[in-house]
This record gives sequence, C-alpha cells and structure tokens, in this order.
Amino acid sequence: MLVNLAEAIRLLQQGEVVAIPTETVYGLAADAHNETAIAKIYAIKQRPATNPLIVHIPDTSHVLHWASTFPPLAQEFANAFWPGPLTLVLPANQTTPTAVRGGEATIGLRIPNHPVAHELLERSGLSLAAPSANKYTQLSPTTATHVEMSLGKKIPVLEGGPCNIGIESTIVSVSENEWQILRPGMIDESLLISIAGSLPAPIHQNSPKSPGQHLLHYSPRTVCKIALSRMDLELMIQAYPNAVALVFDNPLKLDDRKYICLSNDPDKAAEQLYAALHTLDSMGAELILIEPPPISTKWAALNDRLKRASYS
Ligand code: TXA
Ligand code: MG
Repeated sequence: MLVNLAEAIRLLQQGEVVAIPTETVYGLAADAHNETAIAKIYAIKQRPATNPLIVHIPDTSHVLHWASTFPPLAQEFANAFWPGPLTLVLPANQTTPTAVRGGEATIGLRIPNHPVAHELLERSGLSLAAPSANKYTQLSPTTATHVEMSLGKKIPVLEGGPCNIGIESTIVSVSENEWQILRPGMIDESLLISIAGSLPAPIHQNSPKSPGQHLLHYSPRTVCKIALSRMDLELMIQAYPNAVALVFDNPLKLDDRKYICLSNDPDKAAEQLYAALHTLDSMGAELILIEPPPISTKWAALNDRLKRASYS
C-alpha cells in the first residue's frame, strides 16, 4: 500500500513500520527508539532477534547519541562517504535500546543518500532502524513493487523510485585502533584503504562479525547456480532447456525472454542486479544460471551477493 510522506511520518511517529526508499535498497523502517516498533520489524521479516538493525540518521550530529565514541578514522570515512552507501559499526552507547543492536555491544549507523529518505529523516525528527524490506534470506527490494512481492500489499510503502546503487551498503566496523569490512558493498576495499591509509584488519575467529552474513542470503526462490565460465554456462543452458540465465556484457545467442544481460560496468550491473534476479525468479524456470562476474575489488560486492544467492 503506497503512502505519501506525511502519512509515512505519522505512521512512524505512531510506532508503525513503513518501507522506505534509500539509494541502496528499500528498508523496512521504524522509530529506532521504540522497542515495540522494532519488534514489528523482526516479526514481519521473520528475522532472528540476534541480528542487529542499521540505524539511519539525518546527519553526523546524531552519531554520539547512538555510539559511545566516534573514532577519528570513522569520522574520516563519514566525511568521505556520508551521505552514502556506507554503514559504520561503532561501540554502542549502552543507553540505546538493545533490541535495535540485536544484543551486540556495537551499533550500525548510516546517513542515506536519497532525497526522499533525507526528507523523511529531517521532517519526522526520528532516527530510523531499517533492515532491507524483504523476508529473511530472500532477495532485497530495489523498487516499491519488490517490497510488496516479498512482504505483501498491507505494508505501507513510501515510493522513491528504483534504487540507484542497487545493493546493500558496505559495512565497516571501526574501533580505536583497527577497521574491518564486515560486508562488501559498492564503496569497495580500495576506496576505503585510500581514505584510511591502512589495510583493514583481517577477519578472524574472534573479530566482530555481521550476524546477518549467513551464507544463504539474498536468494531468489528459484535455485541459482554460478557457472564455471561463460563457456560452461553456454553448455549448461543447452543441457537445461528450462533454465534462464544472467550474463554480463555479451548477449547470449538465445531467445531474449530466457536471459538478462547486465552491463560490464560494475556500478551499472549492481544497480540492475536484484531487479534482474527478481525478473528471472518470476519466470517459473527450474534453474537460474549465472555467468561468473570478473574477480576484482570493483566486483567484490556483486560476487559476494551472487555467491550467497546461489549457496546450497
Ligand atoms: O544498504 C543497507 O545497508 C540497507 C538499507 C536499508 O540501509 N540495509 C540493510 O540492512 O541491508 P540489513 O538488516 O538487511 O543488513 C544489515 C546487516 C546485517 O547483516 C546485520 O547483521 C549487520 O548489518 N549489522 C547491523 N548492525 C550491526 C552491528 N552492530 N554489528 C555487526 N553487524 C551489524
Ligand atoms: Mg537484508
């Protein structure tokens, strides 16, 4: 059910959830201070309560409300990439609701770069907890229609057009002396290193993790399989006449209702990725075959999402 900005503000202030546009994916938002509203997010998404939510804030003056410190390196990342597709995981202020942190001692914060989200945050005066507006482990939504397909028509949705980044934010945790990438995104490792002037600490057994980074994630209902190569994909498509395909750069010699070709530019491919997977998923095929994207830092986030979408 589409709602306008004024209705979205009223619902959020009353402790209801509203799906909202951001530049990455649509989020299922609620007042981050309201524990009852936060519980609705977990229930609707069928998400485990131990999986923390990202709090969306209007500007950096809100950081120290949620975090106990704003380390210099985190400030440099914020200056470089906010508003934008970067989530900073910082030590949490212990007074913030534990529900929003999923019980973690840290808090994920982001200033989104989307005019509608920006106006909503400014005018409502709220900070908004918002995970992606899809059921747990399913594909993330990049249009209002995708939200309805996953969560049903009763969820209020604030329309903001298709998301132009198209995949979820890069998540970076920053403490006083090190930083780590918890989830790759379109702000890639080389960009982060150029700001930090240091390499990220490797992820080891005891390092902070993103509890939501399950191997099975971002998944269409149809089984997905990443081919070994373009040639492998072309052979497999002959072996599975009921399969559909996702390729990059070069069209296939195949009925164009049976495949989608994305750009060879990683930013453009990311923008279209989930829409393409949603479309392929709706075709009733037995299998979605995927051409392996290039292996490079610019393609790291796409490789990550496709690996999880096809995990079995
Ligand atoms: O682009 C995005 O980040 C979108 C839009 C709506 O902002 N949001 C999003 O939220 O992707 P979600 O909940 O689908 O994914 C957030 C991820 C989860 O894997 C969660 O575990 C992790 O962020 N996360 C959130 N807070 C964290 C924390 N304090 N420590 C570690 N991981 C955290
Ligand atoms: Mg998600």
